[in-house]
Amino acid sequence: MGATDTATTSAMINGGVSQPLNTMEKLGKALFFDTNLSTPKGQSCAVCHGPEAGWTGPLSEINAHGAVYEGAKHNRFGNRKPPSSAYATPSPVFHMTSPGEFMGGNFWDGRATGEILGNPAADQAQGPFLNPLEQANPNMQVICQRIKQSRFAEELVGESYAALFAQVFGPGSFDCRPRNLQATYDYVGLAIAAYEGSSEVNAYSAKFDAWQAGMVELTEQEMMGWQLFNGKALCSVCHLTTPGPNGEPPLFTDFRYHNLGVPKNPENPFYTQHKKFNPDGENWIDPGLAGFLETRPEYQEFAEQNYGKHRTPTLRNADLRPDETFVKAFMHNGVFKSLEEVVAFYNSRDTGMWPPPEVDQNLSPLLGDLGLSAQEQAALVAFMKTLNDGFMSE
Ligand code: HEC
Ligand code: HEC
Repeated sequence: MGATDTATTSAMINGGVSQPLNTMEKLGKALFFDTNLSTPKGQSCAVCHGPEAGWTGPLSEINAHGAVYEGAKHNRFGNRKPPSSAYATPSPVFHMTSPGEFMGGNFWDGRATGEILGNPAADQAQGPFLNPLEQANPNMQVICQRIKQSRFAEELVGESYAALFAQVFGPGSFDCRPRNLQATYDYVGLAIAAYEGSSEVNAYSAKFDAWQAGMVELTEQEMMGWQLFNGKALCSVCHLTTPGPNGEPPLFTDFRYHNLGVPKNPENPFYTQHKKFNPDGENWIDPGLAGFLETRPEYQEFAEQNYGKHRTPTLRNADLRPDETFVKAFMHNGVFKSLEEVVAFYNSRDTGMWPPPEVDQNLSPLLGDLGLSAQEQAALVAFMKTLNDGFMSE
């Protein structure tokens, strides 16, 4: 496609990939990429959500092993692989759809519910700054002071944080005094979520989108993959290929929770974390959704039936990486290292050739012995590669 065609296509799909960010999105962008806002300094959101790696872990070496990223404090690790921070904003507020069945929220286990700020991504964005295993600030006051002192917004978008806050949330809205601190911190969450929801992050600029818009053809192999995805391989039962909750192009998730029976990742550094963070040591098992439900009196009774379930991730940008040799990790614990391996697992979980599931209950019956040939598995992988953004701006 020529440059003009490309611009026209993206304009048709999302109003233009290169559409300039509005002021609130610019503020969110600065907060997202600013490495001055952690304790100690040096860690921005992008350290674990790099755009070049499809908004997930940008370090090949880490992905190839434990797939869990070190927090701002040396040697402090969380327990899960960073999911994509793109396409997270359309997730509905966490809710129960029928007794024991849940939908929405952010994080693998939905615990950024969206109940606080009305949007899971905004609730989520407040978490990492204070999480001792991520940006590790002791309290909101410290974050506020760090934002106040940082010159990063000027460097990145040409205006100071104070000026950006004033324009978006009103004069004097950036205020670290105790009585206004919570409001200021809510603005931080909302601004980051606005950036995460912008057309720069949720670009819908993949070959798939161009194909849906009738601008390009899929290859024979990609087309075969698409048909399998929606048919024999059952992928679209959970990775929906219908429009999103607000009429977005397909997001390839149902925002619901399932246990696929993924094996443990023995290299997860969390197994050897200090007892204070992981009292179970190497016997630790990721409870998934159940871990969050147990913290909520109204949902506790449903914990057992949701043990080991994780929220279906988007498949957009699943394969996006800075170069061919770069390793990406898949699933909540990053145990799989290629899309080929993921598809092989779906095809043959129940044939005895994989290590036992991390959680051997509530297993989804939709996978395990799909009877896909090598050619069919390769076609599924080829199709998933059409979901990488950037196709339309090349
Ligand atoms: C040390 C690495 C690290 C840093 C720093 C970090 N994250 Fe994350 N992020 C993660 C991990 C790990 C998860 C999944 C946690 C879980 O599910 O328990 C996650 C989850 C998310 C999600 C949820 C996506 C979804 O679909 O559920 C979003 C959005 C997100 N992060 C945005 C951010 C923002 C914004 C920042 C900066 C304020 C940030 N992250 C900083 C590692 C990190
Ligand atoms: C029962 C619902 C369900 C079905 C069917 C399903 N998936 Fe998934 N998929 C999930 C869930 C849930 C996860 C995350 C599981 C976890 O981390 O434990 C996931 C994870 C993935 C991932 C890893 C993404 C990442 O960012 O880590 C890929 C790739 C994937 N699925 C592709 C497929 C393909 C291809 C098919 C069809 C062969 C398929 N899925 C069928 C629910 C499903």
